Amino acid sequence: PVSERIADLISRMSLEEKVGQMMQLDARSNDLNDLIVNRHVGSILHTSRKDLSLAVDIVNEKTRLGIPLIIGDDCIHGYSFWPGATIFPSQLGMAISWDPAKVEAAARATAEEVSCTGVHWTFSPVLCIARDTRWGRVDETFGEDPTLIGEFASAMVRGYQGGAKAGEPLPKDAILACAKHFAGYSETQGGRDASEADLSHRKLESWFLPPFERVAREGCGTFMLGYESIDGVPVTFNKWLLTDKLRGAWQYNGTLITDWDNVGRSVWEQHVKPDYVHAAADAVKAGNDLIMTTPQFYEGAIEAVRTGLMDEQLIDEAVSRILALKFRLGLFEDPRLPDEERIKAIIGCEAHRRANLELARESVVLLRNDGGLPFDANADGADDGADDGRKRRIAVIGPLADDAQNQLGDWTGNSGQVSWMPDGQPRDMITTVLDGFRQIAGDECEVVYSRGANIIDLVPDPAGEFYPDGQPRPKVGVAASVDRKLIDEAVANARRSDLIVAVVGDVVQLIGEGCSTATLDLLGGQNALLDALAAVSRETGKPMVTVLVSSKPQVLPASIAGENGVFAKRVSDPEAGAGSILWAANPGMEGGRAVAEIVLGVTEPSGRLPITFPRHVGQLPVYYNQIRGQHGNRYADLTQDPAFAFGEGLSYTTFEYGEPVITGGASNADGTFVETDTVHAEITLTNTGEREGTEIVQAYIGDLVTSYSWTDRELKAFRRVELQPGETRTVAFDIPVAACTIVDPDANRIVEPGEFELLIGHSSRREDLKRTTFTVA
Ligand code: IFM
Repeated sequence: PVSERIADLISRMSLEEKVGQMMQLDARSNDLNDLIVNRHVGSILHTSRKDLSLAVDIVNEKTRLGIPLIIGDDCIHGYSFWPGATIFPSQLGMAISWDPAKVEAAARATAEEVSCTGVHWTFSPVLCIARDTRWGRVDETFGEDPTLIGEFASAMVRGYQGGAKAGEPLPKDAILACAKHFAGYSETQGGRDASEADLSHRKLESWFLPPFERVAREGCGTFMLGYESIDGVPVTFNKWLLTDKLRGAWQYNGTLITDWDNVGRSVWEQHVKPDYVHAAADAVKAGNDLIMTTPQFYEGAIEAVRTGLMDEQLIDEAVSRILALKFRLGLFEDPRLPDEERIKAIIGCEAHRRANLELARESVVLLRNDGGLPFDANADGADDGADDGRKRRIAVIGPLADDAQNQLGDWTGNSGQVSWMPDGQPRDMITTVLDGFRQIAGDECEVVYSRGANIIDLVPDPAGEFYPDGQPRPKVGVAASVDRKLIDEAVANARRSDLIVAVVGDVVQLIGEGCSTATLDLLGGQNALLDALAAVSRETGKPMVTVLVSSKPQVLPASIAGENGVFAKRVSDPEAGAGSILWAANPGMEGGRAVAEIVLGVTEPSGRLPITFPRHVGQLPVYYNQIRGQHGNRYADLTQDPAFAFGEGLSYTTFEYGEPVITGGASNADGTFVETDTVHAEITLTNTGEREGTEIVQAYIGDLVTSYSWTDRELKAFRRVELQPGETRTVAFDIPVAACTIVDPDANRIVEPGEFELLIGHSSRREDLKRTTFTVA
């Protein structure tokens, strides 16, 4: 059995070999021979194709025991390090779909592509909760709701791992998943990355831990720890999280890896450990198995054992968990080397492109429709008199309209996270929004383009052009100034067109790790461009749609958003904003086509918001499930009503809900429920419009009176329902009473007897929800 093989190996390993086995080092900036032969490293990350084969040869030819390396990489929304791989929408984009099955298919496709390159493990998915959207990594999350995050994370883990549960062997076309960043990393201060997180155990238990608990119990192979500290303790050393919760209460047997140099940073940056010996000892004692990119761990851990600061038994336990991973992957029998035939057949293949397009179509959300959409590209338009047979013209305008890199977003090409990847993804594999309109609009319609504005200018990093290790430091972006010439050109194109499509958003230089923003405004010349286009639309009556291609919710100018409700006395007037609004997040390689299909009515919009859109950066926190406060819990100069709420999103048809009915599940004769019951409920839904459409039916629970302050309502379940015009369907939900919990001051999850509301409907807004109640005895 595997346990005997592991014990046998450990008994034959020297202390140096065991400590090396616990190290994961960066293959790009280290000499592989030195890593493997002199430091006995057990794992490498960020490996080039050439290095990967070389590393395997060195292990086989030059190491005593030939223990295979485990090779990890950040395959975040596709295998971005591999030119030609399929790049899906960002995680936040995926979450707009509210479609875990499609997200599982995306992870499956990614696993198939990654597994044939010789990489065994992806550092994905991210289970962080995006509440302060100034944070640079909002695009990597599934949004703001723990239930939604849990559903999507579970789907992605299944997809990556090919359905393998805890401890089971992984199929050859599967890779290990990594739930990160455990836990509370996103709870930053002022949105600034990796700061001290103000998190009580109660707050962690209430929102941040449940998605992690779910994937731990479902067998996610590995967990990565965050960068932040809680109550003065970096999570790398947090006993409550690692030992009491993860290993204890959840019985998690997988492998824990630190984030980038977490152990080293505790010495040189945070100054909470006096030296690398103590840092190494404390990291192992806290339960970490693999130490990412801290070279000093090697000498530190060896000395800690030799001087009695740490028991060697702890090293043996960590190594046994790492070896167990290698056995799960079958690496001792088959090192899973790059497979040229599979690489050719699978990477970027037609089936994956199709899956990508299907997901992208659902990863766009229509936030406002002033009646201009869908736009019929084939109807008669204002012919300009040119004898070219064209009847209509669409002006596709804006800095994000034809920008492949920023459409893909972070963790691709030359983004902050992957800036060493020289060429990015092949341009011809990416359909930008402009390409999409050119593909879909048809021969009767002309598509014209203007850039209209710049977002940033790239300047050398004030910190210097090179990192201390000699690598070039990427340039940094500063907001570009308004370019009147670009705007004038765009306005001229808008005036001679029948539809104005303004594509605006953000750029990879301003997002990602260590790249949070103080503002959520559109930068550079974008607001001025939108103001000018909105004026054309108002004056001429031409329909306009603003397409936001952005890593996170952004704040639109008043010309588009309306009066914004920013000042309490200038009450918001949604009619005042020009045109329709779509948010596409970072929609992946096929995203531009999906946007064009939706605008032109070839595809019905079906996305819903997984995150709240504020009206103003100062409105944060604005997430829907905040704890109930008292009367003063508002701003005097700003409504607390968001621009667009969690769960919102429009279709081209209309839906009507019946009244929710609780149909059973209570075990008490008087109809009241006990904690082990499941509430069965039904609601009818009718498509009352003239087009087919998909509604995402959302079920929320509210506990009417709680002993401790709690939120008004929480999402517990949802269903995607496709309906033909006039069709009615009954939608059923089963909600376990055990899921209707609050968390007490000692961080215990409890169900409190009393009355609950079950709210079912279109979005998290109360006015969109139909209500019934039930009682727990
Ligand atoms: O996986 C990432 C993590 O999300 C942030 N820091 C670096 C890791 C490895 O690249």
